[in-house]
Amino acid sequence: MALLYLLLLLLHRYALVWATLFENIQDVPPTEYDFVVIGGGPGGCVAANRLSENVNFKVLLLEAGPSNTGILPMEIPLLSPQIPSRYEWNSTTIPQPGANNRTLAFPHAFVLGGSTSHNGMTYNRGPKDDWDRYARLTDDQGWSWEGIQTFIAKNERWTPPADGHNASGQFDPSIHSTSGITSVTVEGFPLPTDPFGLKASKELGGIFSFNLDYNSGHPLGFSWAQFTIGHGTRDSAATSYLAPKFLQRQNLHVLVNARVSRLLQTSSYSDAPEFLRVEFAHDINGPLFNVSATKEVILSAGSINTPQILLNSGIGDSKVLSSVGIPPLVHNPSVGQNLSVHPVVQLVWTVNSSFQTNDEIFQNQTFQDLLVKEWTETSQGPLVNGAVGTQRIYFRFNDTVLASFGEKDPSAGPTSPHAILLIQPGLFSSTGPSTGKFLSILVIMHTPTSRGSITINSTAPHFFAPPVIDGGILKSQFDLLALREAIKTALTFMSASAWDEYIVGPIPDLAAAIQSDDALDQYIRNSASYSEHVVSTASMTANNADYGVVDPDLLVKGVTGLRIVDASILPLVPAGQTQVPVYILAERASSLVKERWG
Ligand SMILES: *[C@@H]1O[C@H](CO)[C@@H](O)[C@H](O)[C@H]1NC(C)=O
Ligand SMILES: *[C@@H]1O[C@H](CO)[C@@H](O)[C@H](O)[C@H]1NC(C)=O
Ligand SMILES: *[C@@H]1O[C@H](CO)[C@@H](O)[C@H](O)[C@H]1NC(C)=O
Ligand SMILES: *[C@@H]1O[C@H](CO)[C@@H](O)[C@H](O)[C@H]1NC(C)=O
Ligand SMILES: *[C@@H]1O[C@H](CO)[C@@H](O)[C@H](O)[C@H]1NC(C)=O
Ligand SMILES: *[C@@H]1O[C@H](CO)[C@@H](O)[C@H](O)[C@H]1NC(C)=O
Ligand SMILES: *[C@@H]1O[C@H](CO)[C@@H](O)[C@H](O)[C@H]1NC(C)=O
Ligand SMILES: *[C@@H]1O[C@H](CO)[C@@H](O)[C@H](O)[C@H]1NC(C)=O
Ligand SMILES: *[C@@H]1O[C@H](CO)[C@@H](O)[C@H](O)[C@H]1NC(C)=O
Repeated sequence: MALLYLLLLLLHRYALVWATLFENIQDVPPTEYDFVVIGGGPGGCVAANRLSENVNFKVLLLEAGPSNTGILPMEIPLLSPQIPSRYEWNSTTIPQPGANNRTLAFPHAFVLGGSTSHNGMTYNRGPKDDWDRYARLTDDQGWSWEGIQTFIAKNERWTPPADGHNASGQFDPSIHSTSGITSVTVEGFPLPTDPFGLKASKELGGIFSFNLDYNSGHPLGFSWAQFTIGHGTRDSAATSYLAPKFLQRQNLHVLVNARVSRLLQTSSYSDAPEFLRVEFAHDINGPLFNVSATKEVILSAGSINTPQILLNSGIGDSKVLSSVGIPPLVHNPSVGQNLSVHPVVQLVWTVNSSFQTNDEIFQNQTFQDLLVKEWTETSQGPLVNGAVGTQRIYFRFNDTVLASFGEKDPSAGPTSPHAILLIQPGLFSSTGPSTGKFLSILVIMHTPTSRGSITINSTAPHFFAPPVIDGGILKSQFDLLALREAIKTALTFMSASAWDEYIVGPIPDLAAAIQSDDALDQYIRNSASYSEHVVSTASMTANNADYGVVDPDLLVKGVTGLRIVDASILPLVPAGQTQVPVYILAERASSLVKERWG
């Protein structure tokens, strides 16, 4: 009898675990939802988790891509460059004049967890001054550095490094939380570049001086990287906020392969229409389904798909909407405009063959297989680190350099870096030459003044045509000059005698580029690409601002019952990686929603 009871209990638990993640709308039990969340990235996963903490709220999360489970390179941190393109939207921009008319990839993930399932996993809250500027721009102290501290703590769960080494001296434990949801850690296997990087930082000092923890609000200097990794495995929004213990909640349903086409108007109040019905399909050729929310729709489709869905729904610039045959329902010319993204350039040096790099892992499949075996059996070894290096330098240009640009400093204040250097022993891509050892630096410019846009030029089929993306790369002279200067800073760092033994010299492309400013500018225009740090296409502004898409509570202006919870609401790109700011803003947004309806 007891055994039967146990068996029934197990079956019941099993059924619950599997009952809440669905592949097909036909399998979802008929339910009246309080909230429908669109998009399973860091915004949507946080909202779905936090709202379903209230057992009285029934929550549905719709994700366009498939489930994230069982995809090895999505679990093994260092193998993220090998994640198949099946889990990508494959977006590209229109020709970019600032990049010699190249059309550029605009990466974003098509899988549960969104871009946290395939990104570089950097844990960076952003500088104090950037948050304080958000507070000023929105007239809401809740967005200040002070205001977000509780939400940082709710998100972060500090975790010891995979190899169990004593990480004292690599971060400041006093500013980290161990009670949140997403795992955070430092390097879990030493890299061959570690001693050289530290020596170069000591040798040069100044802007390269050691900073114990870039997450203190004061990121400037040379630091150890922190990653959203736990026990050697990527911890994405899906693996953390939708972990099995949360998916067991009976009031939370997650539907994958559900691509949202648009929101449907559910009332005709002309001052602020309601859009509580969500239209979606499992296939771009249809058929279309719809589901409605009784309280709110939370749009968390990311900086590219969020404005696309708004425009498809008739929320945007009336002229543009009419030109593609969409009846304009809410006129707002800010939708999709003012896109802000960090441009990136990669620099490569050849490494002395007596030393190690990560290149062999991608050049020698037998070697990689051995390391995968080690990772699978022990959660240890070289694969536990992120693929963007474990040491980095956040830095500012001094006043002399800034004055030479002839423009006002676009940074948020003295704690905000203009750029970052990511140092990686190896190439940043999985497709490099079949032999050779390299050191790469990714130079990411953090304070771009160029702006781009997301718009639509077609409604077929079923509104699923790719949006028209103009990333605006290097449109402004400031961005070009700043990237040029940031590259020079990288060259200065690599000129430290600490590197003499390890580095042979720049590869030919780079050697040619650094001969003159003109050559360097051409190198930048020919090789610059986009980071995944895209924001501001549905900008948050003060209640009384004459532009912007959402108010400081992230409610869409001129609409009832629609909130946006993703990177698109950040009014300017933060001077740092964007995944953690999204976790933070989603935690705060979830609190606001719970206060409103609790
Ligand atoms: C991206 O391209 C891959 C490879 O062609 C494909 O399998 C995948 O379906 C594409 N992604 C989307 C969202 O269409
Ligand atoms: C880019 O395209 C524009 C418009 O076609 C053209 O005027 C310009 O010369 C092109 N730039 C380069 C570098 O080819
Ligand atoms: C880790 O190292 C620090 C500094 O060297 C030391 O004070 C601390 O006791 C060590 N912790 C453990 C658990 O060994
Ligand atoms: C919503 O779906 C139902 C069927 O589930 C359909 O009858 C109805 O027409 C749809 N509503 C809209 C506005 O498309
Ligand atoms: C873009 O942002 C600027 C402020 O940075 C604002 O003045 C302008 O109105 C915005 N444009 C749109 C279309 O929202
Ligand atoms: C590839 O790796 C295996 C395992 O470490 C090693 O035995 C073999 O020599 C390597 N091959 C080359 C070409 O380096
Ligand atoms: C400012 O930075 C530049 C470039 O790194 C450097 O050459 C110059 O000496 C610095 N000036 C001052 C006043 O620190
Ligand atoms: C507009 O849409 C059409 C068809 O969907 C596409 O072929 C074309 O390239 C698009 N135009 C731009 C500027 O992206
Ligand atoms: C490469 O490293 C070895 C071992 O440290 C050293 O003897 C040699 O001089 C280095 N080669 C170069 C070109 O620096």
